[in-house]
Amino acid sequence: MGTIQIENVSFKYDQMMDNLFDSLNLKIDESWKLGLIGRNGRGKTTLLKMLLGQLKYSGQIISNLNFYYYPQTVVNKDLLTVEVVKEITQLEDYELWKIEVELDKLKVDPNVFQQQFSTLSPGERTKVLLAIMFVDESGFQLIDEPTNHLDIEGRQIVADYLKSKKGFIVISHDKSFLNSVIDHVISINRSDVSVYKGNFDTWQAQWELKNQTEAEEKEQLQKDINRLHETAVKRENWSRQTEAHKNRKQYHEKVHLDKGFIGTKAAKMMKKAKTAENRVNTAIDEKKKLLKNIEIEAHIQLNYEKKNHPDLFVQVENLTLRHDKIVTPEVSFKVKRDHVVALVGPNGIGKTTIFRQILGISQPFTQDGNIRVANNLKISYLRQDNELEGTIRQLTEQKQINSELVFSNLRKLGFERHLFEQPVEKMSQGQRRKVALALSLSEVANLYFWDEPLNYLDVITRQQVIAAIQKQHPTMLLIDHDQDLIDAVSSVKVNLHH
Ligand SMILES: Nc1ncnc2c1ncn2[C@@H]1O[C@H](COP(=O)(O)OP(=O)(O)OP(=O)(O)O)[C@@H](O)[C@H]1O
Ligand SMILES: [Mg+2]
Repeated sequence: MGTIQIENVSFKYDQMMDNLFDSLNLKIDESWKLGLIGRNGRGKTTLLKMLLGQLKYSGQIISNLNFYYYPQTVVNKDLLTVEVVKEITQLEDYELWKIEVELDKLKVDPNVFQQQFSTLSPGERTKVLLAIMFVDESGFQLIDEPTNHLDIEGRQIVADYLKSKKGFIVISHDKSFLNSVIDHVISINRSDVSVYKGNFDTWQAQWELKNQTEAEEKEQLQKDINRLHETAVKRENWSRQTEAHKNRKQYHEKVHLDKGFIGTKAAKMMKKAKTAENRVNTAIDEKKKLLKNIEIEAHIQLNYEKKNHPDLFVQVENLTLRHDKIVTPEVSFKVKRDHVVALVGPNGIGKTTIFRQILGISQPFTQDGNIRVANNLKISYLRQDNELEGTIRQLTEQKQINSELVFSNLRKLGFERHLFEQPVEKMSQGQRRKVALALSLSEVANLYFWDEPLNYLDVITRQQVIAAIQKQHPTMLLIDHDQDLIDAVSSVKVNLHH
């Protein structure tokens, strides 16, 4: 039987201070169904890229298997799906039946071959790209987060499909998906990497047992860390207020002050604030180091500004949107103050389109029915895709959001400090999602539009998000395929179906 042997492998990206992997040793059997888990940015995607031979590392990886990676890059999405498939697989026309067999198992209509790839629903795209990896039966598949964007039914179909296969590594943050698919776990922990026989639940149970003493120390440290974060945010708010107050005073009293004097004073204050911030961050890092492998979950908070009136924020009546062949199903609902309204429905039904129409974003749709939105609401919109670019500081300046609050939220979400100056484009998918999430959390808002907030986020971060919504009961319109989230937070469910 074939194996993959990883021997003494070390790797870091150019600008990193420390190794991402340090003398890694692993032995994997080619028949195992492996789930690769770990917090965002730990190196899951990087590990798969090393197996594919796309990155230069020291040490060696010994294997004679053919590796395939999902998601493959589709260069031209305007081509017919059949052309995309041929380009990636290099199969001839007479061999395409092999893919049709796999597509059938994934319950995909074979007519999608004749459709432009760009017009397939996210679920169909995922299934087509998965199917073509499994045509080579001797291959070993490396599957990077197939469940993002998939609706509940889609996840079930993909889970059943993978269960019938042997020999692959799948990355996912969806616990129930992993439980039904895998028989081994590779876990990238804070200080090491381990392999374990079992599914996600059995892995978690033994993990907690193993780290029990650490877990006890964790509670006290958690409190200390939360306190340090709060002090940092308070200090920032205080120094802002003092500055604002000073400026107002100067304006009213028409005092002529020496500009140079103000400049030096401001610079001194800034420097002081920076030193204090560095001290807090170092203290937090020191505390975290005391715990070897235990993850820290701090409480995150929405910068929710509660309004006393009106009671009704959004009213949608008999709404349908149409464009060519696409028609969204007729829908009516209300978003009342302090309610979380979940829009639930399968891939491609038009949830995001409805969101954007309510937000007044221009779209090529003809609208029937009414949309009313209360005046003067501060709305925070978290988009479905990770579209951000630039550094975090640039983003907070553009959107005029308190940057210290954003950094503090990111730290609580397990984000490493060295990433603060990195452009978002260079981050892992989950790290990008955290930046978008932290911006929305930190922005002052009366109403939230959150479109699939949990995509790409690791298990711990998901729990933090759920806890924050439960605690604050903000007014929110929510789309997500994560059943745990919907069940835990929604006051009203709006079901969309044809
Ligand atoms: N091209 C790159 N250049 C520099 N740093 C990178 C690059 N790609 C990833 N990184 C960094 O390497 C680390 C590991 O990234 P990787 O994408 O492997 O994480 P991951 O475990 O897959 O995370 P996620 O769960 O968010 O997908 C992260 O800190 C990330 O910011
Ligand atoms: Mg990744």
